[in-house]
Amino acid sequence: MPSKHLSIFSKSTEAERKDNFEDYWGFTQRHSGVIFEAEQTLSKKKERLGYFQEHPVRSRKPLPDPALFYRNYVNLEDDPATFDRKTLLLTCIYKFARHEWVGISAAWDYLPALSEAKSTTDKISRYHLCEEFCHVRFFHEMFRTFHLEDVKWVPLGKWMNRIYRMFPYFPEFLMSAPAFVTELMGITFYTHVDHLLDTVFADEPEARDRVRELLYEIMVDELAHIGQRRNFMGPIAVRFARKQLPALFRLFFRDIPESKYLLDVDKMIQEALDFDYRTVPQQLLAKSWIPSYCQLKSA
Ligand SMILES: [Fe+2]
Ligand SMILES: [Fe+2]
Repeated sequence: MPSKHLSIFSKSTEAERKDNFEDYWGFTQRHSGVIFEAEQTLSKKKERLGYFQEHPVRSRKPLPDPALFYRNYVNLEDDPATFDRKTLLLTCIYKFARHEWVGISAAWDYLPALSEAKSTTDKISRYHLCEEFCHVRFFHEMFRTFHLEDVKWVPLGKWMNRIYRMFPYFPEFLMSAPAFVTELMGITFYTHVDHLLDTVFADEPEARDRVRELLYEIMVDELAHIGQRRNFMGPIAVRFARKQLPALFRLFFRDIPESKYLLDVDKMIQEALDFDYRTVPQQLLAKSWIPSYCQLKSA
């Protein structure tokens, strides 16, 4: 089926990107609500989380071996080849989300609070970080859906933490490409997780549906983030992003050994390079944001 959108790598002018930032800023406020800096949250996301917490769904059975999850979710202790698929997918999701959590925690201290942010892009970035913090809470709720009540968000090792802390200090022209690629990696990963839910949790339909609801809350934001981060890039950065994408994907997933039992990283790389929104459920696109230069003019 032909896509209704254009490649995320489509050309854009500086004037278009400026207009798109203003448009995105309006979107993100309508979509996420009012910011609460002290809680690192946003009113509409908080409301949604409250709904999930007040209407909990729990799997019919606990995991086959919850101790296996707890022993391996932060660092692998056992051979993932021996894991049941449910544990494998949940430890993989945790490890992915943990990287996000460490990255945003480092950036939070660096960026100005919304009340002090002068530029539209700084305001957008503050909202973006709050949305990411909300995602960690949605992930947390996914684990609770499988009776995993004791999940902790553990910092990465000393060196990785230092690298993440240094990132925000790099100038925008260097960071815009890798920041965009990590967003694209996120949506590609979540799309594959979405497909895996049907087979891995086939015997847990209610829990599977709840995890999917939580995942879709995250994906709507992440779809918007791709366009927003794309908007930071001029033609040189776009070329740079395409070039470094395969290596960044491989490097990242090498650090998550579970991924090779669940995901086809080469396919994910190709999908990311070809990304034009066609792999994403239509219902999510309708709620999200897409830059004007990725939209077909006749659409
Ligand atoms: Fe994210
Ligand atoms: Fe994101």
